[in-house]
Parts: sequence; structure tokens; C-alpha cells
Amino acid sequence: MATGTFPDNFLFGAATAAHQIEGSNTNSDWWAFEHTASSGCRDPSGDACDSWHRWDEDLALVQSLGLNSYRFSVEWARVEPASGEFSLVALDHYRRIVQRCHDRGLVPVVTLHHFTLPAWMSERGGFESPEIAARLGAYTERVAGAIGDGIGLACTINEPNVVALMGYLLGVFPPAVRDRKRFEVVSDAMRSSHRAMVEALRAGPGHYPVGLTLSMAEMEAIEGGEAQYAQALEHLEDAYLRAVGGDDFIGVQCYTRLRFGPDGPVGIPEGARRTLMGYEFRPEVVEHTVRRAAAVCGLPVVVTETGISADDDAERIEFIDTALRGVAACIADGIDVRGFYYWTLLDNFEWVLGYSQPFGIVACDRATFERMPKPSATHLGRIARSRELGSPVGAEPRQ
Ligand code: FCB
Repeated sequence: MATGTFPDNFLFGAATAAHQIEGSNTNSDWWAFEHTASSGCRDPSGDACDSWHRWDEDLALVQSLGLNSYRFSVEWARVEPASGEFSLVALDHYRRIVQRCHDRGLVPVVTLHHFTLPAWMSERGGFESPEIAARLGAYTERVAGAIGDGIGLACTINEPNVVALMGYLLGVFPPAVRDRKRFEVVSDAMRSSHRAMVEALRAGPGHYPVGLTLSMAEMEAIEGGEAQYAQALEHLEDAYLRAVGGDDFIGVQCYTRLRFGPDGPVGIPEGARRTLMGYEFRPEVVEHTVRRAAAVCGLPVVVTETGISADDDAERIEFIDTALRGVAACIADGIDVRGFYYWTLLDNFEWVLGYSQPFGIVACDRATFERMPKPSATHLGRIARSRELGSPVGAEPRQ
């Protein structure tokens, strides 16, 4: 296949997460965290994008753009509002989303856990509870029973490495712990929970690929940083990539490059281009991490998230083009890459940073919830429809 073209069955989608778009997820640990003064959260999530009600509008948008898939997450705090008590209304809600995806020609990609826990589970110790794998397994079994016959692709835990790192080592996500030992306990719990969830999904109705979505970066050591680099690679990536044997795919999620010096991560190089998040502008990270994930774990790859927070949508278009060029190069080299999901559909609630980070290909009015597609949405849709990248930016013939 010529570089710059994508196979017929390649999935082109946009990714979202329940807590970031649904609104009023009041029964979760994140809701409580947002309302804790010391948490450092910029805004509460509040109504978010009101996707709990406007989900079909979101699906209509994805369809109209020309994408063929939609990634969303099921919210555990809604499905199991109290320990052992399952909400049929919530399960039915997600069932309708899955069915409507099919009506609209979209492959539904379902994430079971995207950062949030039900308040009752966090009170019982969250990921440090010896029960966590069994609890996530039981919840997953319910979801699989309700929607498994319609799932296109399932992701168990979204970025378990980020949940462990931010929540238990850096202390910036709930439960705001900074403790190496506890971070290690939680990291192990992530892997056992993933296994329990894979089993629950496979035991239920439907046949669809199941995998983990891992946050990856283009990691580098600068002088004297080799040990820090090796440690980060091991704890944040390789320990997970070794634990996914037997899965059907690995979900790669990546945003930037990280460099390590003798004392840990160092800032981005002077003069380097930055995104609004303060990350180094580095769309080449996609090619790097796809190649690395495939080489280390040997599974088919789906880019389940990549994207950029930018006020200037031209930067988003440039990011998407370079990222997809990297994916096309991987495919041309025989790497089995099955899909690309832009993070994210809508400008939404970016965790501790609140509503300050426009990652979306679609803007969302904070007062009316009106959805307004940006040029990047049409751009990505055009690539998805044609399965071909246009000429590189700057290479267009002059008029
Ligand atoms: C990823 C998360 C997603 C969003 C993007 C910007 O780490 O999975 O929810 O926050 O980063």
C-alpha cells in the first residue's frame, strides 16, 4: 500500500470519556475531588457538554463528518451507584448509544473505566482495595451482559499508568497520594483488574477485540538521565506491555515527548514549540509509540487517543496530518495498525485543568451546549472518507 493511504477497514474516530462530557457525574470520586478546595482543580465539571442528554447529537456529528467509529466510556458510578446495586436505566442508556452507533454506521468503541471511580469504591480504598479487581470484574460482567452483543471494540482501563502515577505518586489526581510503595501496589492492581475485566468481557455475549489503552510518550534520556529514563520506561510502559499478552490489541495514547535527566523529567528544550497544555508540540510521538508498542508487545495497535490543545485550529490540522503520516508509515512497514481516534470530539472538561484546554475538533458553547465543528473536524472527516492523506502542509501547488 502506498504511504499515505489507509486500508478499507481502518477505523477513523473521535474519542471521549463519560466524566468529561456527560455532566453531573455527582456520584464519583472526581466530582468530590473537584469540590475539594485543596485539590487544585480549576473548575468543577458541572454540566460538562451535557452529553448525557445530547449523546445522539454527538453521534450525528461524528457520522456527518465522515468518521466511521466513536469511542466513549461507560460510567461505573452511574451503572453501579451503590455497592452491588446496578442501575438498569444507566445500562439501558449505554445500550441505546451502542445501538444508535450501529444505526449511524459507527463502530462503537467502549471503555469500561476512564479515570473515575464510584464514590463508594473510593471510600473502600479505590485501587488500593484488595477487592478492586473483583469489583471491576463484576461491574464489567454487568456491562458486557447489557451491551456486549453490540460492542465493536472494548477498552478495559483507560491509561492505568496515568491513574497510578497522577493519583498515587504525583498526588494531583484523586486520591492525591504521593507514595512510591502505594504507587507500586496500585500499578499491580491495575494489571490484575485489567485481566479480570478481559475475562468478564470474553465470558459475555458478542465477539469483539478486547485491549488495554496505555499512555505512552516518546521518552529520551539526556546526559546522566539514563537510569531515570529506564525506570520511567519500565514502570510506566513496559510493565504494562508485558502484561497484555493474550489480548486482541494494544491501545496507544500519546501526546508528546518526555526527556529525563539525572533527577527525573526535565522541561522541554529551549525554543521548542509548545502546545497550550505546555507540552512540546510533537505529533511524531504517534509514529514512535506505535512502533514501540508493536515491537514490545507484538499485538495489533489501535491509536485510541492522540490530539492537541490549541486555540489555533490550524495547529490541530497540522498535528493530525503529521500524526496520520506517522501511522501510514507504520502501516507501509507492515505494522498492524487498525485505527486512529482523535482526542477529542468536543472541547470538554480536562480534569484538573477544567475547561481551559480546547482539545476538540468541535467547540461546545459553555452556556447553550451548542456544538460547532472546527475546520479540523471537516479535515479529519475528509481523510477518513478518502482514506488518503493530502499533500503535506506547505507542499500544495501555488495558485
Ligand atoms: C489523556 C486522557 C484524556 C484526556 C487527554 C488530554 O491522558 O485519557 O481523558 O485528558 O489525556
